[in-house]
Amino acid sequence: MIKVVVSGASGRMGQTIGRMVSESADLELVGGINLKPGIFFGVDIVESKNAESLLQNVRPDVLIDFTIAHAAIGNIKLAARNKVALVVGTTGFTAEQTADMEKAIKGYVPAVVSSNFSLGVNIFWQILRDAGKLLKDYDIEVIEAHHRNKKDAPSGTAKTILQILDAEVGPRKKVYGREGVMERQDEIGVHVIRGGDIVGDHKVMFSKNFETIELSHRAYDRSVFATGALHAARWVVGKKPGIYGMSDVLNLKK
Ligand SMILES: NC(=O)c1ccc[n+]([C@@H]2O[C@H](COP(=O)([O-])OP(=O)(O)OC[C@H]3O[C@@H](n4cnc5c(N)ncnc54)[C@H](O)[C@@H]3O)[C@@H](O)[C@H]2O)c1
Repeated sequence: MIKVVVSGASGRMGQTIGRMVSESADLELVGGINLKPGIFFGVDIVESKNAESLLQNVRPDVLIDFTIAHAAIGNIKLAARNKVALVVGTTGFTAEQTADMEKAIKGYVPAVVSSNFSLGVNIFWQILRDAGKLLKDYDIEVIEAHHRNKKDAPSGTAKTILQILDAEVGPRKKVYGREGVMERQDEIGVHVIRGGDIVGDHKVMFSKNFETIELSHRAYDRSVFATGALHAARWVVGKKPGIYGMSDVLNLKK
């Protein structure tokens, strides 16, 4: 059995992951971490200030973190210090936080870090790479929509989309929303929608005179991310220290 602790245990993703771990025959839920203590799926949730003693008491194989960027950095350092493998789903890291995370992980523990754990989005990213190579002279717009409580914008998935486009069509200026009088330049427009309980929609539009190609992905349920995170948790235990992506877990071509 692979022993799992979930940080962000009381959150939307933490609850979904906790439930799915507790229902898995090969995974054992051994604890949760959140801002306030509690119980989830029969195990204790400890306050984040007691997270280190939890890790030392229950000795998990893997910590799955879906919290908020500044909290995730603390949890990642803690796991690395205690030689616990990591699955990091939290998004919204600054460049400095990303560097901090890499420093804490590299050479110490294996970690799968991904802005989106769904199989569909990982395949969408592959298709986008191919589309980008072929559609370099099209106008490109990126649109994402999430529920009203999402804190970071644009989403981590949209940022990964922009990185892929930069790599495939060449770096372009990003214009975040538009207002007033302006002329479209050789830019990528980025548009963020927040409302209701939208789980996660992403669309890339490639437009030219008389035609538009649209690639889009829509998540209907958080279980698609949780399924991927559990897959990553099973895969990461016993790997060499370093940072891996879902393309490694799913064996997709880079
Ligand atoms: N990679 C993916 O596939 C994927 C999918 C969905 C969401 N996300 C990301 O996961 C993160 C969480 O999303 P959510 O919708 O579950 O958010 P949420 O706000 O519902 O849950 C986050 C939880 O983390 C808790 N938390 C805050 N500080 C903490 C700390 N120091 N220690 C432990 N817990 C702490 C909060 O109290 C909250 O319960 C976000 O960054 C989101 O963008 C990633």
